[in-house]
Formats: sequence, structure tokens, C-alpha cells
Amino acid sequence: QPAAAAAAAEEYRGIVAALPSKLPGTPQRMRLYQGSWFREDWVLGFVAIQRRFAPRDGDVVLASLPKCGTTWLKALAFATAARAAYPPGPALAATGGGGEPHPLLRLNPHDCVPFMEAVYFAGDEARLAAAPSPRLMSTHASFSVLPASITDNPGCKIVYICRQPKDMLVSYWHFINRSKSNAMSFSDVWDSIHEGTYFGSPIWEHILEYWRASQAMPDRVLFLRYEDIQRDPVKNVEKIAEFIGQPFSDAEKEAGIVESIVDLCSLQRLKANSGAKNAGFRRVVNVEVPNESYFRKGAVGDWVNYVTPEMAESLDKFLADKFRGSGFTF
Ligand code: A3P
Repeated sequence: QPAAAAAAAEEYRGIVAALPSKLPGTPQRMRLYQGSWFREDWVLGFVAIQRRFAPRDGDVVLASLPKCGTTWLKALAFATAARAAYPPGPALAATGGGGEPHPLLRLNPHDCVPFMEAVYFAGDEARLAAAPSPRLMSTHASFSVLPASITDNPGCKIVYICRQPKDMLVSYWHFINRSKSNAMSFSDVWDSIHEGTYFGSPIWEHILEYWRASQAMPDRVLFLRYEDIQRDPVKNVEKIAEFIGQPFSDAEKEAGIVESIVDLCSLQRLKANSGAKNAGFRRVVNVEVPNESYFRKGAVGDWVNYVTPEMAESLDKFLADKFRGSGFTF
């Protein structure tokens, strides 16, 4: 119903236009929505999912702040959840001849697991409605911005990934300067946590909301850390599998399926399959991003190459203050 869709879009634009704003007139234009700052057009997507998302039992939502390992989590969760249809080991071999290659060898992980808010922003929700259960989706929304139909729903699960903020900022700076017409100086990016201009700010609230939810409802919210996955990817993939109700059998473990998933989803492999899937740009909400810009270095502690120890210490202190008393530490 194009008329109804247009009326809804108009209504949502009215809601967003009335919100407090930051950085008006820049590509980063932000709005304060239900306690957090997001890029304006993403808020339209959040309003749409709050109004219209129809959850299903078995839905799994992957949540994160930008540049915390979203793409990696998408690949790992997709390869794990879809392993019956797409076995990771033989599929890799199959690229040499015969058989259909694994979707992650053909597609960007963001094609396998879409951002819910981007799907709704684009009016493409039929895509999610048509997807078979269990569905995998992702979001950059805060826990409190996610529809209650997800957060209060015993049938829906959430996997959150967080990352050391200093590495997140360095990653964001590289990323934002590769997207079309979005350049930001390093100092603007570095100050963005402090200034509340990082997407999803205040970032400590974004992290703490999911962290507290994971403590209160461990069967419904799984809290992962980028650095932990780097340290022990097999253990973390096993955690994901168990959490989504598809634990690996002993036979699968013995056959090395978990290691095959880790290998299939390694940065080198996702980056190297550069062919069509990493060429060109993708539109995420209204930002055009080169597909390959999701895969850079994938290191822990890369921030040392960008900031002085004093800058790092100052940010660490600022954040330690924000997390004090919460029980959460990096
Ligand atoms: P760097 O810029 O530090 O390299 P997001 O997916 O949330 O946008 O985060 C992007 C960051 O995750 C980038 O960090 C990117 O290189 C890293 N990344 C992407 N795929 C990865 C993978 N398969 N393994 C490890 N890190 C990965």
C-alpha cells in the first residue's frame, strides 16, 4: 500500500524532526531518540521497527555499536545457524569444483544478516517476512530502543558484541573516511565518545544496557567481546551455537566443524574472496559504503599506532568513571 507507506514515512519524519539535534548540516546529523544519539535516518528505521516489527519465535538479533565486530559476528552466527544447509568444511572444498559454494564465499556477511532498521528504512520489510525461521537480523539500536516485542519476548534472543572503545574509534575513523561524503577528522572521531557524537552515544549506556540484560536474562541475551573472540574463537562460536539452541554435537566437534566455521569467517578469508562481493558500494540506510571497508586489520590494540599514551589514558579514565559501580569493566 504505497499511500499508507508514504503516510507512515511522513509521520516518522515528523517525529524525528521534533527531536533534539546535534551536528546539523553535516553528514553525521544526529537526533536524541529515547535517551541515545543516532544518525537521523537510522532513527526513522528505529521508529519503523518499534511500530511495525513482527517477531517470530526463534528470531536472533545481533546487536552492537558500529565498528565493534558486527560483520564478524554476522559471519560466525550465520555460518553456525545455517551449517545444516551449508556445511562449512565441504563447502570450502567445493569452491574448487562441484557443489554450491558457501554463501559467505559469495556474499558479504551483511547480505546474509541484514540490519533490521535498514530493511525497514528502505521499505523492504517483506524481505524479513519472507525469510525462513529461525531468522538472523542485526541492529545498532540500544536495548531500550529495540521494540519490546523483542526485548520482552521469551522467543527472541539477542547477541551483543562489544569492543575496546579505543580500537572502535580507530576503526570508525578508517571506515567513515571511506564512505561517500562522510569525511571526519581523527580528532573529531577521537572526541566523539566524550562529546556524545559517536553513533549510539552515550556508548557506556549502550554497553551497560545490554550487559545488564545479559546478567538478568542470560538465556535471552548473550554478551560477547571482540577481544575474547580473537583470543578463543572456537569457544565463542560454541557459545553462540549453544545460545541459539543449536549446540555442536560431539561428532561435529570431532569433525572439526567449529574450526571450519572459524576459518571460513576469518578476516583474511572474508577479505580475500574479493570478487564481486567485495567490489562496489552498499547502501546502509542512506550511507554508501565500499563493501571491502568492513574488512581492514582486525587487530586488538591497533590504537597504539594512532594516539599518544596520554590521550589513551585520558579516555580510559573518562570511561572508567562512567562504568564505576556498574560491575562492568573492559
Ligand atoms: P578494524 O578497522 O580495527 O580492522 P564492524 O563489523 O562492526 O563494522 O567492525 C569492523 C571491524 O571489525 C574492523 O576493525 C574490521 O577489520 C573487523 N573485522 C571484520 N571482519 C572481521 C573478521 N572476520 N575477523 C576479525 N575482525 C574483523
